[in-house]
Amino acid sequence: MAFMIRPVIERYADCAAFAEAFQIGERDLLITNRYLYDPFFAPLGLKCQTVFQEEFGAGEPTDVMIDGMYQAVRKLSFDRIIAAGGGTVMDISKLFALERMYPVADLCDGTIPMKKTHELILLPTTCGTGSEVTCLAAINLTRRGTKIGFGGPEMFADRAVLVPELLRTLPMKFFATSSIDAFIHSIESYVSPKATPDSKLFSMTSMKMILRGYMTIREKGEDARFTLSDDFLTAATYGGIAFGNAGTGAVHAMSYPFGGTYHVPHGESNRVIFPGVFDRYMMKDPNGRIRGMNEELAGVLGCDADGLYPELRRLFDVILPLKPLHEYGMKPEECELFAQSVEKNQKRLTRNNYTPLTVRDYTEIYESLY
Ligand SMILES: [Fe+2]
Repeated sequence: MAFMIRPVIERYADCAAFAEAFQIGERDLLITNRYLYDPFFAPLGLKCQTVFQEEFGAGEPTDVMIDGMYQAVRKLSFDRIIAAGGGTVMDISKLFALERMYPVADLCDGTIPMKKTHELILLPTTCGTGSEVTCLAAINLTRRGTKIGFGGPEMFADRAVLVPELLRTLPMKFFATSSIDAFIHSIESYVSPKATPDSKLFSMTSMKMILRGYMTIREKGEDARFTLSDDFLTAATYGGIAFGNAGTGAVHAMSYPFGGTYHVPHGESNRVIFPGVFDRYMMKDPNGRIRGMNEELAGVLGCDADGLYPELRRLFDVILPLKPLHEYGMKPEECELFAQSVEKNQKRLTRNNYTPLTVRDYTEIYESLY
């Protein structure tokens, strides 16, 4: 049983304080998006080199996007990589900190050895992925038609820098999907067989912060999230620390075939799958380690442990309303097809399930959400 926190975690109130502390200069490469650069970095007059991720493709990281970006990055000479963005920007930047990473499919296959040659500084600008503290990257190998998660110790950042100012322009929809993803990282890692007392501490603190934040938003409205940026950034980072050690399970596993087929954002597809998986866990083993967790979370929500999951559903509906799977276009026969795909392709995740689940369980979970 082991537990590890790798990057040094630093906090700055705003980008100006961060830029000053890090003395950002010509030997730095900033990887970000234009919509973040313009409001937050352009006014600082930084001398660093900058690459905008969206010029190489939209959405999640793909082999085409990464290999295209490599052609631009290879012409530059730099020491440190500073990446400010969501999961896509942070995951991609982990690759560019390596000595060799082209073509990226070879790196994923392990035919290119991983060796880190650049200092890597990650600044999350959503409150969900936890990528700033994990050594993982999710990449869609579109040339092969598979989406994979891969990583290794060489892909850890050296510093994870939390700057609440960077959440100032985050639209409600992205706040909702990213923070629900963070909650699911924490709850899945809490009930994972790989959980340790240490990872559970981070999982639980993260879940409580997110639930209290959601309760404040329910009471005061969407804009209240801007006063909670610090808490949500912290909760997402703690969720990343927890799942980086204990893993995520069936919610993420079942989310992949559905979200991949119907182009549903990661956090949203997790949000849809979450109630079905945890209802099933409660049917199968309500008295295992899930019980103590339920009691603690019910204490935050002010309900009985028995009423926790319905109460969670009501609260989440305020943040991101639940839609049934058929409203995304999913077909009835896909309940079983996706279940088989989970069983076949997602073993890396499903071995972290709270209780063992079969193809029949996965099928019935999809059906219950249909
Ligand atoms: Fe996730």
